Amino acid sequence: MRRLENKVAVITGAASGMGRATAIRFSQEGASVVVADLNVAGGESVVRECKENGGNAVFQKADVSSEEEVKAMIERAVKEFGRLDITYNNAGLGGAVGPIENITVADWDKTFAVLVRGVFLGIKHSVPIMRKQRGGSIISTASLAGLQGYDGIHAYSGAKAAVVNITRSAAIQLGPDRIRVNCICPGGINTPILYGTTPGGEKVMEQVLANLQPIKRAGSPLDIANMALFLGSDESEWITGAAMVVDGGAIAGESIRLAQGATNAIPPSGFAGPSYQR
Ligand SMILES: NC(=O)c1ccc[n+]([C@@H]2O[C@H](COP(=O)([O-])OP(=O)(O)OC[C@H]3O[C@@H](n4cnc5c(N)ncnc54)[C@H](O)[C@@H]3O)[C@@H](O)[C@H]2O)c1
Repeated sequence: MRRLENKVAVITGAASGMGRATAIRFSQEGASVVVADLNVAGGESVVRECKENGGNAVFQKADVSSEEEVKAMIERAVKEFGRLDITYNNAGLGGAVGPIENITVADWDKTFAVLVRGVFLGIKHSVPIMRKQRGGSIISTASLAGLQGYDGIHAYSGAKAAVVNITRSAAIQLGPDRIRVNCICPGGINTPILYGTTPGGEKVMEQVLANLQPIKRAGSPLDIANMALFLGSDESEWITGAAMVVDGGAIAGESIRLAQGATNAIPPSGFAGPSYQR
């Protein structure tokens, strides 16, 4: 049996990057998918790809910062496929970037409207349906930037930290309803959000990202789709409130070998004894 047989999923930001990869992966595993995004042409093309991969899919135009549109998006799943098992709140953007003293209140609020309000609304409107069905899985895309700070993306870091903690508080409330709430914290994944504005595009970004973590390749949208598949399936039945890190080891820490040559504070091998004896 396929891993999502008979399940129905709504995926936001599904016209591109990780959302697209997840919609296709879910289709291969038997789910019916509502592909939701602002990008109509991209979304419709993903619907075609889902169908080519043996799935059932429809496109729903939705701005995740709009309560009305999120509600309609969730209702579309029930109207079209009769139920809702998985909501994946994944839509995102870079938002307000640059020195914190230069960020306008309008840009700050726009960032939070998509990244935080979007997740809140996705959870809010999934709950009544999932509760009636006696269960469901809600997934959101957070980020390593929700677990540690990153210079230059203050609003994004704050918003993704909020996603991590909303995941936890919602998981506590909804556990007794058998509604699981988890988030994924991706490392550097080679998608248009990163390569779209990079000179040299996808190829150059692949090289840049490859060197950022112990596993020396860029993250791919499929790495995230596979985690979403696990969290959406019954295989993760006892997992809720978790922030699942998928990052090639980036957040495990810094390599001390990077510092070698510049300093001898830690010998390359052997035993570092008490400093007064050295
Ligand atoms: N790529 C990375 O390295 C990385 C790392 C950590 C987290 N993320 C997060 O992963 C998620 C997916 O991003 P991606 O890398 O696939 O980028 P992407 O740009 O390829 O995909 C994001 C999608 O979200 C859609 N979107 C943006 N605003 C929307 C809105 N208001 N309503 C509905 N749809 C909207 C876009 O149209 C796009 O299709 C985002 O939440 C992003 O913040 C990305």
